[in-house]
Amino acid sequence: MLIKKGQLVQNTKLHGRKKTRSSGKENQRIIRDIFPNYELKLEDIQVDLIKNNMIELEIGFGFGEHILHQALTNPNSNFIGAEPFLGGIISLSKKIDERKLSNIKIYNGNAIDVVDTLDKNTLTTIYILFPDPWPKKRHHKRRLISKYNLDKFSNVLKKGGQLFIATDHEEYQYWILEIMSNRSDFRWICSGCNDFKSKPYEYPETKYEKKAILAGRRPVYLNFEKN
Ligand SMILES: C[S@@+](CC[C@H](N)C(=O)[O-])C[C@H]1O[C@@H](n2cnc3c(N)ncnc32)[C@H](O)[C@@H]1O
Repeated sequence: MLIKKGQLVQNTKLHGRKKTRSSGKENQRIIRDIFPNYELKLEDIQVDLIKNNMIELEIGFGFGEHILHQALTNPNSNFIGAEPFLGGIISLSKKIDERKLSNIKIYNGNAIDVVDTLDKNTLTTIYILFPDPWPKKRHHKRRLISKYNLDKFSNVLKKGGQLFIATDHEEYQYWILEIMSNRSDFRWICSGCNDFKSKPYEYPETKYEKKAILAGRRPVYLNFEKN
């Protein structure tokens, strides 16, 4: 396996951080000896997943707090976490290994590569927690939530599957709601006018969530169902 400083692979164009803060010996060991045990390779994706019924994908898992919690509390589901950031790969690999979990696979790279490789109607849930908001107008085309990517998410989600998005960025929130309101393949699950202001289920705060709340921002939790 190729270990460049701060980055393992980059298959398609990605923007944002990719470097680890530390390239110490322990991190090198985790990448060399631990990560490969949990790595999802695109060429193995169908073989690995064909036997599994419940497959959930987390895009941009950061340090892995949420996906780890999901895998621990739902041992009968299988999870794929996709993240290009090497610090996140190291952190999650270590946590999975400590708990000897067998229901998480990690893809080091662009989640869209995974989505493009999956068969139609494969996933029960896609989680996207605090996607980079790319606030400058000229960077909006980098946003993960776009019509282009939603077409792909829709294709791989099963009927009744969920797309869960959290954001602390107000303008991105409106952007997401506007795009989603123009789609007939998803419906927003929102029973009261305030329920999207609290988490729909308990999980440990992610790093970005904690940062947002400490800074006084109020995250929203948007849950959509595939029709
Ligand atoms: C703002 S951070 C949020 C991280 C984490 N979800 C949290 O709440 O702490 C956004 C993350 O998405 C990752 N990311 C961005 N584009 C991605 C893509 N196309 N595929 C997978 N991960 C992506 C980034 O590397 C980054 O770690």
